[in-house]
Amino acid sequence: MAIDGQTQLVGVIGWPTAHSLSPAMHNAAFSYMGLNWRYVPMPVRREHLPDAIHGLGALGFRGINVTVPHKVDVIPMMDTITEAVTIVGAVNTIRIDRNTGKLEGMNTDMGGFLTDLAANRIHVGKDTRVLILGAGGAARAAAAGLVRSGASVIVVNRTPEKAESIVRFIQSSWAQTSIEFAYMQNLFEASQSATLIVNTTPVGQWPDVDSSPWPENVPFPKGATVYDVVYRPLKTKLVRDAEAAGLRAVGGIGMLVYQGASAFEVWTGKKPPIDVMKMICMQQLGEGAEVPFSDT
Ligand code: ATR
Repeated sequence: MAIDGQTQLVGVIGWPTAHSLSPAMHNAAFSYMGLNWRYVPMPVRREHLPDAIHGLGALGFRGINVTVPHKVDVIPMMDTITEAVTIVGAVNTIRIDRNTGKLEGMNTDMGGFLTDLAANRIHVGKDTRVLILGAGGAARAAAAGLVRSGASVIVVNRTPEKAESIVRFIQSSWAQTSIEFAYMQNLFEASQSATLIVNTTPVGQWPDVDSSPWPENVPFPKGATVYDVVYRPLKTKLVRDAEAAGLRAVGGIGMLVYQGASAFEVWTGKKPPIDVMKMICMQQLGEGAEVPFSDT
């Protein structure tokens, strides 16, 4: 469909954005659905962020994704935020009101993660004991989503203070939670009863494909499932090692697709073509194997 006077615009703001998978994923979805919409990458430096965000309404944009390093800095620039933003402490999607230009900050990462667990039939409930590796934004989204679903969570991170801060924040948000942190040197004890291990660190991400966040001298807990939010390569060393040890292991491509699908639905009001979006991402990852990219 040609770009014309009716074309609706969305996109992603981050630094850098050149290798993001989202333009390919969303533009393929628009094309498949016959929508006259386009998704454009917009690399924006930190010092230009307020001007860029406030200009979106004036330019008639319908929405944007926000990626590294701006996910937290955009929060005070929003007119309203959703509960998910309060919970996760980051915005990854903005909806722009057509008439007023007002900005609604949203977070589809937490929902994307939970939806992908469900899509992979990874059960999460009161009997689920999760070990989360890492304590950045992705860890916070995963921890919040899992705790809200009733699971008990242990956060382990290279810098224990950051794990502790996630735990404190979640404890202060929900009284009835089971969440604690453990030191990396105590990983063996902390992990033995885990039923689900979630890696939220970038360790193992291309080009660092021979690294794993799981230390070689620590055995995987028997019968656990491993979820790695890293999706490039599609099978990380962590996923390969876990499979070799007889565990079920899933990479993070689905989380990327579902957070994008959720943004698509927010902007267009239409059901996203999940399979098309996933296929395009897999294709890009397979064929563009030498090209690095950012995580949205
Ligand atoms: P995001 O917000 O996208 O989740 P992030 O804030 O960079 O990303 O968080 C990445 C997490 O992975 C951090 O908890 C980081 O550990 P520190 O808190 O100690 O910085 C962790 N991480 C990154 N590289 C790591 C490495 N080589 N080994 C272990 N942990 C690592």
